[in-house]
Amino acid sequence: MSLIILLLCTLLGVSLTTAATIERAVSSDVLPSICYNDFGCFSPRPGFKVLPQSPEKINTQFFLYTRKQSSQAQLISSSNLGSFDHTKQIKLIIHGFTDKASSSWVINMTKELLKLEDMNVITVDWSGGNQFPYGQAAANTVIVAAVVRQLLQVMISTGAQPQQMHLIGHSLGAHISSYVGRDLPNLGRISGLDPAGPDFYVSQVPDRLDPSDALFVDVIHTDGAPQIHSGFGHLEPLGHVDFYPNGGSAQPTCGSNTGVILLQSAWSLISTFNVGNAADTLACNHMSAVFYYTDSINTPSPAFAYPCSDYKSFEQGLCTSCGSSSDRCQRTGYHASISKTLGTLYLMTLHGVKPPHFGFNFKVILESDMNDNAQQTRGIIKVKFDEQNEDTLLFDQNTLFKRGSINSKTILVANKPTAMEKINISFKKSLGSTLGIGLAGQWNIRSVTMLDMQSHMSYRFCPTSNSPMIKSGSNLTYKLC
Ligand SMILES: *[C@@H]1O[C@H](CO)[C@@H](O)[C@H](O)[C@H]1NC(C)=O
Ligand SMILES: *[C@@H]1O[C@H](CO)[C@@H](O)[C@H](O)[C@H]1NC(C)=O
Ligand SMILES: *[C@@H]1O[C@H](CO)[C@@H](O)[C@H](O)[C@H]1NC(C)=O
Repeated sequence: MSLIILLLCTLLGVSLTTAATIERAVSSDVLPSICYNDFGCFSPRPGFKVLPQSPEKINTQFFLYTRKQSSQAQLISSSNLGSFDHTKQIKLIIHGFTDKASSSWVINMTKELLKLEDMNVITVDWSGGNQFPYGQAAANTVIVAAVVRQLLQVMISTGAQPQQMHLIGHSLGAHISSYVGRDLPNLGRISGLDPAGPDFYVSQVPDRLDPSDALFVDVIHTDGAPQIHSGFGHLEPLGHVDFYPNGGSAQPTCGSNTGVILLQSAWSLISTFNVGNAADTLACNHMSAVFYYTDSINTPSPAFAYPCSDYKSFEQGLCTSCGSSSDRCQRTGYHASISKTLGTLYLMTLHGVKPPHFGFNFKVILESDMNDNAQQTRGIIKVKFDEQNEDTLLFDQNTLFKRGSINSKTILVANKPTAMEKINISFKKSLGSTLGIGLAGQWNIRSVTMLDMQSHMSYRFCPTSNSPMIKSGSNLTYKLC
């Protein structure tokens, strides 16, 4: 694994320097700096002897979209704001490494924003300065930030308020947003979508996104890596509120993410953003933050995320309370709010590659019956609510069910079940045995309770049959007790 990391770092142009040695480098070296008219002087980022390239070379461009001009963007700049309207919300979408403003995710996010409300959506292109090596692209983020800030300051001089400005940045774009906010007091909001990891991972505040960068900083982590350089994103919290879909690292639609796959293909796939091809790579995980955010703009579901000690506990149904006024959880993504619960929040997404990614949460409590000769079994249990919803997995093949005991789980269904009167439960025994004791080939479930985590209504279902034994491979209808 260390070889892979080393190769990866070479590929990225990132050194394996630890935080401690970086500090030493800062204090002992006299670092050169470079000055660009209008924008001031820049030193290399701590630990990296790379200076930012010139504003001319990076050629940051701004494309304005409004409801009137939703398909034909207008090229604007600090000397020509075009049909910018200072009375409306201002959204800037900023891409990351090797990406560009014409990428389909940028276009799709723009469309969803304008579908919701008429506003100024400005897509920022810095593809003149975000190519390999990664270290150079990372160094250039300060220049992009300076050019963006200049544009925003001109807008402020025409009557716009910094509070109505919202920067949405993916990967390195999240850190660009952070630099903009650092020197622009009262910037309204920054949404950081899987903020880039390599290089920024070792950075301390204020060299990376943090809550002081805007009045509200919300972050979605989809490729967080607990260990340096093993993922693209940050796992540790960076904002006022940090969302961890599916735990924040491997996303269910993206397949396994081993270092080998990362090394071979992730960076090249990241520049194509072909989700189909990227399905088995970390690039897919890294892009998932963008897909979830885009889907969150107009989703009909609550898309709630919950405070919990960790993701495993959330999955086990230990964190279900949203509070009576839904202020103890948060809507994930675009509709997140500074006035709801802040901190680290967990959520599940649906497993399809395409939207919808959000749905409706239930806590399920399954009570195994006593009047059964078998002691225990292991198997898959699924539920079907109605014709609208597919079978939903309650418990996977590793789950142990014991006589008279209780198993609980949080689940997500795509469509809000219409009538909570009847459900079907299926059982399929796992192969093998547990500690030499055979697994029961049929199981007796006394009741299944479904707690709707949005409305807090609880529904308890009991078997309809007098001999409520579910044989492996079959299913049984349960109705309200
Ligand atoms: C953008 O939207 C189109 C049309 O809905 C879709 O086919 C495409 O996959 C989307 N692209 C991304 C990157 O989400
Ligand atoms: C139960 O059986 C029906 C009919 O065979 C099937 O369509 C359904 O998917 C099964 N599973 C559940 C969870 O109801
Ligand atoms: C539940 O199972 C019964 C009997 O197997 C079947 O007739 C019914 O259609 C099923 N309901 C759903 C929602 O799948």
